[in-house]
Amino acid sequence: MTRAAPQAGDVRAMLDGRSVVLVGLMGAGKTTVGRRLAAALKLAFVDADSEIEKAAGKSVQEIFAEHGEVYFRDGERRVIARLLDEGPQVLATGGGAFMNAATRLKIRERGVSVWLRADLQLLMKRVLRRSHRPLLKQTDPRLVMEQLMEERYPVYATADLTVDSQDAPHDLIVKQIVEQLASLTRTP
Ligand code: S3P
Repeated sequence: MTRAAPQAGDVRAMLDGRSVVLVGLMGAGKTTVGRRLAAALKLAFVDADSEIEKAAGKSVQEIFAEHGEVYFRDGERRVIARLLDEGPQVLATGGGAFMNAATRLKIRERGVSVWLRADLQLLMKRVLRRSHRPLLKQTDPRLVMEQLMEERYPVYATADLTVDSQDAPHDLIVKQIVEQLASLTRTP
């Protein structure tokens, strides 16, 4: 487990009840990094997709298959809004969450957003290991990922912070996030 970073207290003070919200594409490492970041900051960790699954009593895959993407997105927006009111915590969001304008606004009010940026090669290496993601159940998942990068990266780029999710030890990425968070001062 990641040891508490020396700046953890400063970061919690800066957050002042707000959450650290990880955004980025599928495979960027939001859940894995988020768990370790939470341990380093001594904050609770919450995964939005898991919370959506709990609320629905179904997996994300089942929600997409039985109700469609629009239904999933609506639940995603509501669950994330609720979770943001329960901060401070580290919140990992699903890759599409930050594309919703209402969610972005809520994150701006109740969180500090961190874009975990990764290149195509790394994302594909990670996502091809597992097959639970409905958006990638296509004949050409690489093409889908390229299209999502084109569409989403300009929006992810509006996050408060950007950290490169290299194929490096997760603890190193956590350290970089903590340092960037520690350098922020509270903006009213
Ligand atoms: C999605 C990403 C997934 C999940 C859903 C849709 C997306 O989460 O929310 O399959 O639109 O990019 P991860 O980014 O955690 O894989």
